[in-house]
Amino acid sequence: MKKLVLSGIAASVFLVSCGPKSVAVTGPKYTSSEQLAQGKTIFENSCAKCHKLPEPAKHDDKGWINTLSRMAPKAKLSDDQHQMVYDYLISVNKK
Ligand code: HEC
Repeated sequence: MKKLVLSGIAASVFLVSCGPKSVAVTGPKYTSSEQLAQGKTIFENSCAKCHKLPEPAKHDDKGWINTLSRMAPKAKLSDDQHQMVYDYLISVNKK
């Protein structure tokens, strides 16, 4: 029993140390063409409501992590949609 309690504490310390939850996307995850196409659709439908659709080349991979972590909540994207939009953007942002 004591062992169980201790591992419970260890697990919660681990969870807390994982950092702020708002940074859901930290790198690429989805790479299949269906998922990238889905990301494109979400991007085109969700990201032109408040301003015109931004150019994917506006930011590099790291820049999109920061911008999307501010914009995905505005566009009310789920973590998965956020991730798919990110993966789409970094698949087309290279010059
Ligand atoms: C609810 C309104 C709203 C939605 C939806 C929205 N944005 Fe924005 N966006 C803004 C506002 C306001 C600004 C200017 C202020 C700022 O930069 O935070 C902005 C600025 C930007 C900028 C310029 C600043 C930068 O960091 O380059 C980019 C790029 C951008 N948005 C991308 C997106 C993407 C991608 C999406 C879709 C996931 C999106 N936005 C959805 C309101 C919105």
